[in-house]
Amino acid sequence: MIVFLNNKFIPAAEACISPFDRGFLFADGVYESIRTYNKKPFRIDDHLARLKKSLKETRIDFRELDSIENIIYELMIKNEIENEALIYLQITRGSAIPRTHSFPKENITPTLFISVKELIDNTEEQASGVKVILQEDIRWIRCDIKSTSLLPVVLASQKATEENASEAILVRDGLITEGTHSNFFAVKNETVYTAPKSRFILEGITRKVVLELCSKFKVDFCEEFINKDDLKSFDEFFITSTTKEITPVVEIDYWKINQGNPGKITMSLQSLFKKIVEDY
Ligand code: PDD
Repeated sequence: MIVFLNNKFIPAAEACISPFDRGFLFADGVYESIRTYNKKPFRIDDHLARLKKSLKETRIDFRELDSIENIIYELMIKNEIENEALIYLQITRGSAIPRTHSFPKENITPTLFISVKELIDNTEEQASGVKVILQEDIRWIRCDIKSTSLLPVVLASQKATEENASEAILVRDGLITEGTHSNFFAVKNETVYTAPKSRFILEGITRKVVLELCSKFKVDFCEEFINKDDLKSFDEFFITSTTKEITPVVEIDYWKINQGNPGKITMSLQSLFKKIVEDY
């Protein structure tokens, strides 16, 4: 695998960062996951806009956003990606000695790392749906920033894996925020519900596309937090993300929804989404 690190394309095995990199010491960095459709990075402008926001909010002074798209294309060629790619991109504040919590006094160069790999097929999950579990949302309250400080996500995600679930859905003060790496949706009486844009969720690009589809095809939607205790009053559920696209949720904490069948609105949004990406 060839990766891009600090202005160089190099074999993954030779990629090194300093132990004084603030990403390593403090998780002082931000990231994006992007995928391709028809070998083109999907909604790259939205991803770069979100990255720009994350950089601004964390005050990481990275100015070469314009070069990123070309690096991605170059990486896909160098890695001989045959089908679709998943692109991982991370920018940390950079490396400085000695370790200090506040920003280093001298100007440092941010560390840019980009890798690409072949996407794993999710056809089965898309068709049959997945099981999720509920977990307490113990993350910080700037979840709108795509920060690499992911320890609460790692722990909740591991709990899901141990319970044979595909995602952990997070609950803060009784309200559902989002998944560890996806946005959460519910449907009741043909209206689609999802948590509002706020400091408590990441504004997912897939979430944005789903809401655009709802507007275009006159599906009612409501950006409102769902109370965990009201879950059973909803008819269907799904999660969205770059890799999961629109994945039906058929089981929550051992409660089988609809006898374990994906919902009608979920599946029609999924097929509308598929049409968009087919022609991308
Ligand atoms: N995760 N919420 C969180 C907390 C996420 O980490 C993600 C994405 C999403 C969905 O965003 P999008 O639709 O733009 O992928 C929502 C990526 C896939 C990741 O962690 O790799």
